[in-house]
Parts: sequence; structure tokens; C-alpha cells
Amino acid sequence: MSRNKKLEVRDLTISFKTTQGMVRAVRGVDFDLYEGETLAIVGESGSGKSVTSRTIMGILAGNGVIDKGSIMYEGEDLTQIEEEEFHEIRGNKIGMIFQDPMSSLNPIMRIGKQITEGMILNGKRLKNKFEKLFHEEQARVDWLKRDIKRAKREFKQLKARAKEDETINLEQAKQKMLDRVAKAKDELKPAKVELKKAKAQAKQKIKEIWNAEKEKANNDIAKLKEQLEGANQEQAAKIKQQIADRKEELARFKQVTKKEARERAIQVMDEVGIPEPEKRLKQYPFQFSGGMRQRIVIAIALTLAPDILICDEPTTALDVTIQAQILELINRLKDEHNLSVIFITHDLGVVANMADRIGVMYAGKIVELGTSEDVFYDPRHPYTWALLSSMPDLDSTERLVAIPGTPPNMLYPPKGDAFADRNKYAMKIDFEKQPPMFEVSETHSAATWLLHKDAPKVEMPEVIKHRIERMLKRSSSSEVKS
Ligand SMILES: Nc1ncnc2c1ncn2[C@@H]1O[C@H](COP(=O)(O)OP(=O)(O)OP(=O)(O)O)[C@@H](O)[C@H]1O
Ligand SMILES: [Mg+2]
Repeated sequence: MSRNKKLEVRDLTISFKTTQGMVRAVRGVDFDLYEGETLAIVGESGSGKSVTSRTIMGILAGNGVIDKGSIMYEGEDLTQIEEEEFHEIRGNKIGMIFQDPMSSLNPIMRIGKQITEGMILNGKRLKNKFEKLFHEEQARVDWLKRDIKRAKREFKQLKARAKEDETINLEQAKQKMLDRVAKAKDELKPAKVELKKAKAQAKQKIKEIWNAEKEKANNDIAKLKEQLEGANQEQAAKIKQQIADRKEELARFKQVTKKEARERAIQVMDEVGIPEPEKRLKQYPFQFSGGMRQRIVIAIALTLAPDILICDEPTTALDVTIQAQILELINRLKDEHNLSVIFITHDLGVVANMADRIGVMYAGKIVELGTSEDVFYDPRHPYTWALLSSMPDLDSTERLVAIPGTPPNMLYPPKGDAFADRNKYAMKIDFEKQPPMFEVSETHSAATWLLHKDAPKVEMPEVIKHRIERMLKRSSSSEVKS
């Protein structure tokens, strides 16, 4: 696996404003997503899995606030960028599929149109070429504009904090903010002039490119038309087709045409395993089964050639055989399209065969992070132990042990380890202080005081040991991915 980072999430902290107070949904989440890997995020309902992934997608609910942290993607912090820009990244670079495929489909639009819509919208080839020509100048202007907003916003946040913290020197901060804004405004003027110049040049260049292309096409068409004279009926039909094709080719130079999008739609439908795509294009979502609908949503995501795919419980609503097929499909597409996948589930069993790494989430935090092998064969956090023992056994469908108790109320997150109340190995410190992430190995870490050097040695429960032995025995035939 390459170690190229696709995404870097740091200290991500998210709350929701509610009538009862602030719900602390995500409390300092850190993880990286590497190129080409599948990172599973596993945890009980309410642990913050969806909120984390929706924030990466830029679709956090209206009452949500990013209190802290960053999500770095291609040198940009996704928590800081503006709505319009997010629009480009969302769907385009980062695709997402949800538990309920209907939530991403329009019930009254034919499937074909839903698949082709994005391609046509994003496929303005000449316009994209034009915009690329002054991309740097545009980025400079955008950055300065954003910096002005950012300076003002940061000052506003500081002002709010100053109400509680009297060590904050507001006067000084205000002057600093005003200086920063003034400097950015000074730089903005010449940057705008540069942008205007670059745009004018780009326009000229694109005009030339387009005219040349048109001339070539017109010449070709004129020649074909000449051939039409004196041609017999059969030859004429062929030549007319060639003329139509040449016109289509020219249109495609400018943008993704309807015809082209339709061809591509049939291709991706075929790729995700929808039989008779030509016929199916004309149908509506209700005419498809749940599994087929999920395939369509995946097809739509694929048409935009994303490089990250976030799957939020994509198979939870499906029955077991269909579930396995969809997992297989995601796995195959991941390899074929070199996607980096974040796979969210409450069921560890689901990811055993597909995750390269696993992050276990509890009460808004990642409490254990490691390779699939680390987490399945050498789990260290008592919550991971509990998850493992509540997972249906590979040999039977019986659930061994349900996790006792309930997760904490995130309106009042506990002071110490959030799992302490449900943890029979909890020590005094677990109720008082949050454990940091302790490193178990280069790839593996867990946030439990049991890993502190002074903690008593606690063995993992027998049932899990036995389970691991059984899994290891099995892994010689059908193995957990490493
Ligand atoms: N819009 C909202 N307003 C208030 N609280 C919210 C909102 N969205 C999510 N939450 C709360 O944030 C916490 C995390 O929710 P999230 O949806 O991320 O859980 P999850 O891990 O995806 O669970 P599930 O397995 O049920 O999907 C929960 O306590 C939830 O109630
Ligand atoms: Mg969820």
C-alpha cells in the first residue's frame, strides 16, 4: 500500500446546537486516509461516524458547528473553504453513498437522467480549459478574499471567548486583525488587475483554439458533402452518418454531449452490475430493488471520477446476500479506480474482509486505530473487546455478548474515559481523566489507561481470545485482509 496521504483529519471537534444545549457529537478526531486504502470507521449508533463523514463532505446539518480542527485535502483545509468551492470537491473529488439509496435519488426522475446529469453539468470541457488558464490568478484573489473573511471571523471568535477569558487582549487583537485586513486589501487590488489580464488572454486563446477546431470540422464536413454529389443511396446514407459523427465530435470537443453521457451511463451501469442498462435507463427508482438502487448510487458517484469514496453504512438496509454483493462491488471498484475508501459501519463483521485499517469510534472519539490485523487479532481497548464479542461469530449467527449499558448522553460528555461506566476493567483514573492515545506499535494505538506503563496488566477476556484463535485458524483458508 502506498503511504501517500489523501486526507488528514486533525482534532476535529463538532457540536450541535439544540434546545437542550450543545450536543458534543465529535470530540477531537484524528486520522489519515492513505491513497488506495479502505479505512473502516466502526462504532455503535450515535458515536459520531456519520457526523464525521458528513463534515468531510461539507454537508453538516445547519445546527452543527465545527468548534476546532482541520481536514486537509490536497493542501486545502475543508473546514475553511467557502460553499461554492466545496461544491466542486463534493461529488467531484469526494463521493458519498448512504445507507438509504433513496435519499440520494430523485424518485420522479428517470435513472438515466440522474446518472447523466452530473456528467453534463461537470463536462464543460472548453469552459474548464478556459478556467484552468487563469487558475493561479483566480486562486490568489480567492485566497486574499478568504483571508479577509477569516481574519474577521477569527476576531469575532476571540471576542466571544474574551467574555470568559480576561487574559485576552482584545485591543491588540483588533489592531492585528485590522492590519491583516488592510494588507490583504492592498494586495487584492493588483491581484485583481492580474486576474483581469489573465482572463482576457485566456479568452483570446480559447477563442483561437475553438475556431481552429471548428474550421477543421467544417473542412471535413465540406469534403464529405462534396462526396455526397453523385453518390448512390447507400453511399449517401453512410456519408450522412459520417457528417453527423463529425458534428458530434466537434460538440464533444466543447462539452460532454447528451449522447456521450448516455453512452457512459450505460457503461457504468454495466460496470456496477445492472443488467440490460439500455432498458433500465428509462426506468424510475421505484422500479429497482434496494440493492440495485445502491448500485445506481455507486454508478452516479463513479461517473464523476472521485478519488475518495465515503460509504456510510451502505449495506445496512440490505439483506445479507445482497450486502455481500455490494461489498464485493465496492472492493472491486476501489481497485479498478484506485479509490481511497472510508467505510462506515456499526458491524465489525462487515469490514473483516475489506478494511486495510480500522478506527473504532466511541462517544465522539476514535478510541482504537490500527490495521485490520491489529484490531481483529490484537485488540487493546475494552470497547473494541466488547465490539468483537458482540459481533456475530464467523461460525454461527449467534451474537455472543451484547454490550451492557448505553453510550453516554453527549449533552453531558463524561469527564474521564467515556466508556468507563460500561467497562468492567475501569480504574479510578478512567472516571477522572481522558486517556490519551497510547502507541502499541507503529501502526496501532488505543486510548485506554490500561496501556499506561503503571496500569495493572489486564488480559483480554477469554471469549475473545478463543474467538481470535478460531479466526486465526480460519484465516489460513479465507483470510482477513492485511
Ligand atoms: N442535527 C443534529 N442535531 C443534534 N444532534 C445531532 C445532529 N446530528 C447528529 N446529532 C448527534 O450527534 C451524535 C453523533 O451522531 P451520528 O449520526 O454521527 O452517529 P452515528 O455514529 O453515525 O450513528 P448511527 O450508527 O446511528 O448512524 C449523536 O448523539 C446524534 O444524536
Ligand atoms: Mg450514522
